[in-house]
Amino acid sequence: MIEVTCTAPINIAVIKYWGKRDEKLILPINESTSATLDQSQLCAKTTVAASPDFTSDQMWLNGQEQSMDSARLQNVLKEIRRRARKRKSDGSGEDRVNWHVHICSENNFPTAAGLASSAAGLACLVFSLSKLFEVEGDISDVARQGSGSACRSIYGGFVEWTMGTEVDGSDSRALQIASETHWPQMRVLILVVSAKKKHVGSTTGMQTSVKTSQLLAHRAEKIVPERMVEMRRAIKDKDFQTFAEITMKDSNQLHACCLDTYPPVTYMTDTSRDIVRLVHAVNNHYGENKVAYTFDAGPNACLYLMEDMVPTMLGLVQNFFPPEQDHGEAFLTGLPSKVSTPSQE
Ligand code: ADP
Ligand code: DP6
Ligand code: CO
Repeated sequence: MIEVTCTAPINIAVIKYWGKRDEKLILPINESTSATLDQSQLCAKTTVAASPDFTSDQMWLNGQEQSMDSARLQNVLKEIRRRARKRKSDGSGEDRVNWHVHICSENNFPTAAGLASSAAGLACLVFSLSKLFEVEGDISDVARQGSGSACRSIYGGFVEWTMGTEVDGSDSRALQIASETHWPQMRVLILVVSAKKKHVGSTTGMQTSVKTSQLLAHRAEKIVPERMVEMRRAIKDKDFQTFAEITMKDSNQLHACCLDTYPPVTYMTDTSRDIVRLVHAVNNHYGENKVAYTFDAGPNACLYLMEDMVPTMLGLVQNFFPPEQDHGEAFLTGLPSKVSTPSQE
């Protein structure tokens, strides 16, 4: 038996991916930008094993057996095995590639709650399989076929996911635009409003949006391309004012598109909106952007801020959203994270 254990971090988009132009290959309708967080805090941990004694491919997620009957999982496994075979064209190791795999993964944070578990989870799975079967080279296009956002968790620092122009999707990949050491003062605070599984998963939510939201079509074509350019410049120049403004506007636009979806999809809650108000009040008080919020497909807030603002923001969050108080469904925790890459144990 051969076995490998790896961890992979989540990434939080500052320009959001929402909508596919190809469901099977997972090709996006617009480019996106994210930061990959420090995996010492929030990560997926996956063990993959292959053995001639295994009689089928099997997978466990957070202790529960999952069906392997998913086109995405099958595509990912098939593609890694294909690359492994190509590399071992001399025939060595050929047997191992045909062995069945057992996959066991755990997230140390809420799964399917809008905190990018599919990004960390599928990046970790593809990374682990590539180590197990000794596949080299860029694997972000394989991770993309597991979950779109997962391609960006293959790299640390600030990452873009390119649209690509090839029909087979082979050039729709993740690219690092700035390394994890580029902006050392950058921190992310995750505020867990609800750890519950979301009612509408990202895949289904964006499918309905693509079908019904004219606003989403307009956003993808007319708004995101310019934002990508501005965001790239803001990150390169460490211009937090612009970084924060685009991040907040883009999150708001994603959720506006969700509301424009028919029937509407709502991910943010009253507590999420209270966090938005708190951030604007703080920025107003300082007369400049000190904090930026962003919400994925869920109620939980991710705050981007500079290191020197972390104690102030944590104090405010604890004051306005004390964990022991009932905010409806809410409790909040702060987790300052530095930006960081998948790694093997
Ligand atoms: P999220 O906002 O957390 O990314 P999604 O709706 O995009 O939520 O995806 C959740 C799904 O991702 C889960 O139901 C599961 O299928 C998959 N997933 C999450 N974590 C892992 C993991 N560690 N390994 C494999 N698959 C995972
Ligand atoms: C709001 O990557 O989870 O987090 O490709 O269908 O697996 P699938 O969807 P997923 O969608 C992520 C949406 C988002 C924005 C983002 O991460 O860019
Ligand atoms: Co996801």
